[in-house]
Amino acid sequence: MVKEGELIFLYCDEKTTFLMTYHKNQSFSTHKGNVIFPQELSFGDCIYSNTGAKFYVIKPTLADKMMKVKRKTTIVYPKEAGIILLELDVHSGSRVIEIGSGSGAFTILLSSIVGENGRVFSFERRAEHLDLAKKNFEKFKKWDNVEFILKDPATDKDFGLENIDSVFIDVPEPWTLIEPAHKALTGGGHLGTLSPNIEQIQQTVEEMTRVGFVRIRCLEVLTRGIRVKKNMTRPFDRMIGHTAYLLFGEKIFTNNEVLTISE
Ligand SMILES: C[S@@+](CC[C@H](N)C(=O)[O-])C[C@H]1O[C@@H](n2cnc3c(N)ncnc32)[C@H](O)[C@@H]1O
Repeated sequence: MVKEGELIFLYCDEKTTFLMTYHKNQSFSTHKGNVIFPQELSFGDCIYSNTGAKFYVIKPTLADKMMKVKRKTTIVYPKEAGIILLELDVHSGSRVIEIGSGSGAFTILLSSIVGENGRVFSFERRAEHLDLAKKNFEKFKKWDNVEFILKDPATDKDFGLENIDSVFIDVPEPWTLIEPAHKALTGGGHLGTLSPNIEQIQQTVEEMTRVGFVRIRCLEVLTRGIRVKKNMTRPFDRMIGHTAYLLFGEKIFTNNEVLTISE
């Protein structure tokens, strides 16, 4: 049974979906007609609009929540999000820094993954973006484990934090935040950046190498949807050509080399 106030995903077709809060007897209008929520509703049910359009009641995924945030910025898309979490080894209990908060889409994901024993420190330099990120997070949050901080850490080259497991940078000038990221991370800790342009990657790699990161790797994620139809199963004619380059590396102590000799 869907509880009063619980989030549901209404699916009519790929272009007609809604992420909504369930309130019994509440009505809402869509371009496929008006829908009234019944007294009782279960996930897996279908409900109809007054014009006969059918809506399935589905449990929303984290990707649905990310894609349905109100946006004032570009966001991290689900196609990149999964591999970022893996490369940064974000898991239950992790302490993670992200910059910038933007619309809060990636914050929602980070918060869900680090869970009640983890912590997300989300830095943003523009007050109006921070407010939006907070609002979006409040709507979709599962845990109270995020600190939103209005600050540009590039200014004083410091996050004011230490023992951080992973840092994720999604800003136009990521190279300005590499030094503070190095300071905040634990030895061997993980750094990731997301940038649309290859010039940003080149400059960031130079800075990562200078400051003390190794295993530096850059990749791009391309996904190709397949239309499955009898005797016509093949890729869709169009695909998204490019969103961003991802860059990863691990912190090393450049001034603290310990030589071990194996026998
Ligand atoms: C592309 S958006 C981030 C989107 C976010 N990852 C999401 O998924 O919603 C970039 C944000 O970084 C902020 N920003 C840019 N440079 C910054 C800096 N040096 N310090 C803090 N925030 C910064 C911008 O104001 C903007 O809100």
